[in-house]
Amino acid sequence: MKGIILSGGTATRLFPLTATTSKQLLPVYDRQMIFYPLNTLIKAGIKDILIIVAPEHSGQYLNLLGSIFEKYDIRIDFKVQKLPRGLAEAFVLGEDFIDNENVVMILGDNIFEDDFSQDIKNFKSGAKIFAKKVADWQRFGIVKFNKNNKAVKIVEKPIKWISDYAIPGLYVFDKNVSAIAKKVKPSERGEKEITSLHNYYLKKGKLDVNIVKGAWLDAGTFDTLLEAGNIVKEKEIYKKFDPLIDKAIIEFNEELKVIAKKRLI
Ligand code: TTP
Repeated sequence: MKGIILSGGTATRLFPLTATTSKQLLPVYDRQMIFYPLNTLIKAGIKDILIIVAPEHSGQYLNLLGSIFEKYDIRIDFKVQKLPRGLAEAFVLGEDFIDNENVVMILGDNIFEDDFSQDIKNFKSGAKIFAKKVADWQRFGIVKFNKNNKAVKIVEKPIKWISDYAIPGLYVFDKNVSAIAKKVKPSERGEKEITSLHNYYLKKGKLDVNIVKGAWLDAGTFDTLLEAGNIVKEKEIYKKFDPLIDKAIIEFNEELKVIAKKRLI
């Protein structure tokens, strides 16, 4: 199983914060946002991770994550997405990296309390997505269930209410996803929509939907960014990280201190 973190985009809702850095490098409590999706993947045993970034921030990602996991048998690759052409483009950009294996993608600004290890490890084929009840259904890809809790309809940012269940930014796809993503036509807003991929698998009867139990935070606005930091602190989500990540962060901090001292001399 390969892992992709989609960490590009323009983050216009967070201007001017994101005029100088990437949204996913902004702090959420005591660490950069990107460490949360990284943790979700690493906890599930994923060792091959591709981070997709916008060109203007690629150097910052390389400085932070280029070598931090080197001695822990975790391989991090980077790919630049020149323009934010949509979430499904990740599977086109990542085709060589995916290399005909199953893949899990997580959005760089999505923070989860749950541990998805079993969902990811038990995945065999088709597609698996998740659902969480929300109040502001107009903002998300939405999934409608029938009486037997089977997904029957998926709509990107619906204008008319169909359901309160949003689809969080964590998706597991089988090895066919790159070929399917290549054929997805951009929507009216010019993006290859992830919901087009979901609908493809839904129509084939190959889409599983599981409910997210714990907190799901999409830290894309000032309020949700602040809320994410507060919830991470309250629920002590930062204490439930894979120990490997904490070790890597501590070592990185030590390295920075040594470099800072040398600069002062
Ligand atoms: P969004 O929050 O939809 O977009 P954005 O981050 O550019 O923010 P805004 O709406 O404020 O302008 O993106 C969700 C996640 O997906 C986020 O982590 C950025 C990432 N993304 C990409 O990496 N490439 C893309 O083409 C798009 C659309 C999003």
